[in-house]
Amino acid sequence: MRAYLKNPDNPASFNCDVLVVPLYSDKKLPRAAREVDKVLKKQVSQLLGNGDFGASHGETMLLPGVLGTGAKHLMLLGLGERENMQRQQWVTAAAALASALNAAKVKHIAILSDFKTPKGMPLAWTLQQFVVQITCATYRYTATKTPAKKDLPQINKLSFLAAANNSANKKALTHGIAIGEGINLARELGNLPGNICTPKYLSAQARKLGRRFDKLSTRVLGEKQMRELEMHSLLSVGTGSVQESQLIIMNYHGGKKSQKPHVLVGKGITFDSGGISLKPGSKMDEMKFDMCGAASVLGAMQAAASMSLPINIIGVIAAAENMPAGNATKPGDVVTSMAGKTIEVLNTDAEGRLVLCDALHYVKRFKPETVVDMATLTGACIVALGHHASGLLSNDDELADALLKAGIDSGDRAWRLPLWEEYHKQLKTPFADLANIGGPSAGTITAGCFLSQFAEDYRWAHLDIAGTAWNQGGPKGASGRPVALLCQYLDDLASAK
Ligand code: BES
Ligand code: MN
Ligand code: ZN
Repeated sequence: MRAYLKNPDNPASFNCDVLVVPLYSDKKLPRAAREVDKVLKKQVSQLLGNGDFGASHGETMLLPGVLGTGAKHLMLLGLGERENMQRQQWVTAAAALASALNAAKVKHIAILSDFKTPKGMPLAWTLQQFVVQITCATYRYTATKTPAKKDLPQINKLSFLAAANNSANKKALTHGIAIGEGINLARELGNLPGNICTPKYLSAQARKLGRRFDKLSTRVLGEKQMRELEMHSLLSVGTGSVQESQLIIMNYHGGKKSQKPHVLVGKGITFDSGGISLKPGSKMDEMKFDMCGAASVLGAMQAAASMSLPINIIGVIAAAENMPAGNATKPGDVVTSMAGKTIEVLNTDAEGRLVLCDALHYVKRFKPETVVDMATLTGACIVALGHHASGLLSNDDELADALLKAGIDSGDRAWRLPLWEEYHKQLKTPFADLANIGGPSAGTITAGCFLSQFAEDYRWAHLDIAGTAWNQGGPKGASGRPVALLCQYLDDLASAK
């Protein structure tokens, strides 16, 4: 994707495939739109006047073959009421536009960008959301399908007309592309089947990023090295699998050497059968998405490097496949984590926390400023929050607030749950320092409590993305969440410096 800020003398004669006219439901035409309307002999005002186009939120209308303009087609985009518009609505309107453009099978899009922005939303931010959403709309899953006979046209160029060519707007475009491509990388990795996207496949992807960016380097620990580090909790998850477990460490040094890094940790279970505590068969295929936390780390690292953020970031992925076998971990087995705490594995299907606890202990060596982990950790999170918000648990109010704000600003929202002492008691067992499950109630919170015991020495937050990482029902597919949230959070950190 390429994106430009253009200020032609007459936007109506600008050459493109589709000219997009964003309109609020007050139906007032901004200056550039009035010029287009004039060339079209008032066709746009007529559609608005007679109610054929109400400009309600997310409504689109394609006017094909508009004569007299430089565009092949015109597209009206309804934004709804400006007065009550929140950031989330802007993002969903941008997503509606992106899907309508996708259906129009076009390459070069131009958007009239002299609209009034809603309160509290800078123009640069609104443009960035268009870029992110339209970049995401170009993603197609093709990896394991016979190629289509003829290539359909792909959106590859975006021009914003009549917006100032200033540094904030320019940054919005480059960042929007970086974030959109980061989201698309996370989606692709999530969508790949478990027989392709194995722990070693994830290492290969991380190494590829290391080769692509000067400031990014990748190291991978295999099972032998993890055994030397005594990561027996992580290793216990992969014992039943023929795929070797991996600990992947990506180091992005965009800041000064002396600056403490921000660490991202991802759950990378490339297939979660449940292990000996085998899952029921229905929808088990969806457990190929159990590495979406890891995919979001890769997506965010790629985006951060593309944006050249002036901070240090370390991405860590705990990758394993959870399978039943004669040598697999059994319910009742006790393992010793790298931190030295013993864990009774009461349910081998609560494996995410087993790989994450060793990764969380491992990252202490980086003396992190903050640590955020992402994991498709609990089905209970879907019960609590559905598919709209990721669960957020944290030992630090300031970090939690920064992530909640980043979620709102990026349209990739999270909601916080508590980690109170009372919940910790649910992890007690007579046979080890802690159990890996906390009983049927508050499953997302007790999973968070478990992780928090390995993250006591730094500011830490956990995002449970079980409900948000992929679309359930409708067309199945990874969503790329929470890459947008993470990018916003990292960009905020970079801007605050
Ligand atoms: N990966 C699953 C959680 C999950 C399930 C995410 C369904 C998205 C959709 C995780 O490893 C798991 O199996 N968790 C168990 C924990 C339980 C055994 C305490 C769960 O949620 O049932
Ligand atoms: Mn599981
Ligand atoms: Zn899992």
